[in-house]
Amino acid sequence: MFTDTHCHLYDEYYDDINLVINRAFENEVKRFIVDGCDGKSNIEVLKKVKENSMMFGCLGIHPESVLDYSESDIDFIEKHLLDDKIIGIGEIGLDYHYTKEDKKAQQKLFRLQLSLADKYHKPVVIHSRDATQDTINILKEYPNVSGVIHSFSMSLEVAREFIKMGYKLGINGVVTFKNSHLKEILKEIYPEIILETDSPYLTPHPFRGMKNEPKYILNIAEFITKELNITREQLAKITNKNIKEIFKI
Ligand code: NI
Repeated sequence: MFTDTHCHLYDEYYDDINLVINRAFENEVKRFIVDGCDGKSNIEVLKKVKENSMMFGCLGIHPESVLDYSESDIDFIEKHLLDDKIIGIGEIGLDYHYTKEDKKAQQKLFRLQLSLADKYHKPVVIHSRDATQDTINILKEYPNVSGVIHSFSMSLEVAREFIKMGYKLGINGVVTFKNSHLKEILKEIYPEIILETDSPYLTPHPFRGMKNEPKYILNIAEFITKELNITREQLAKITNKNIKEIFKI
């Protein structure tokens, strides 16, 4: 049994989420961690996890929403952090890819949410793009907080740094991309990994161009088991153990 540890199963992306879940079930993917990224999606995540027994949620404000969020969005996260099936804060972090002028605001928002994780003893789901050093430095300010580096695709050196800090690495369809260096470091970062799709984005090869969904976890798993020469059962066992360690599910 596999878990999609990071997906955005919002109504705006899928005509029928029940069908998406059924297809995942047929492909050995039986649990789903849905991440919020702004005020609106956090409300939807909370509603969805109450309706679906195999769905768990993380609430957070994504760095790309730094200019749009309000104080009430943060209050909402804090108010529901201890709700049943809300298992972490995410996705949160730093993204300097498009905007560099709001760096300071992103860092403030990041620290604000890390403080909540610290206060309520919740794991964090980290989005970090073109901001590796600042991410490491800020996470080090919160030594009691850990979680997962979502969509990990950095160097082996950086991987080792995050692992040393107590974080697991979220591996998705990017590992299957022909231009990705990730498969070369898989042996070194295993077993500190968990699997995710980041649906509806980052569909694995050879399905690139189609909308991603949790059933593709199995394709990512197959790619990894071939690279590492391990069985699907071994990978499921290791990743589920890591998920339990971080998210307590
Ligand atoms: Ni995401």
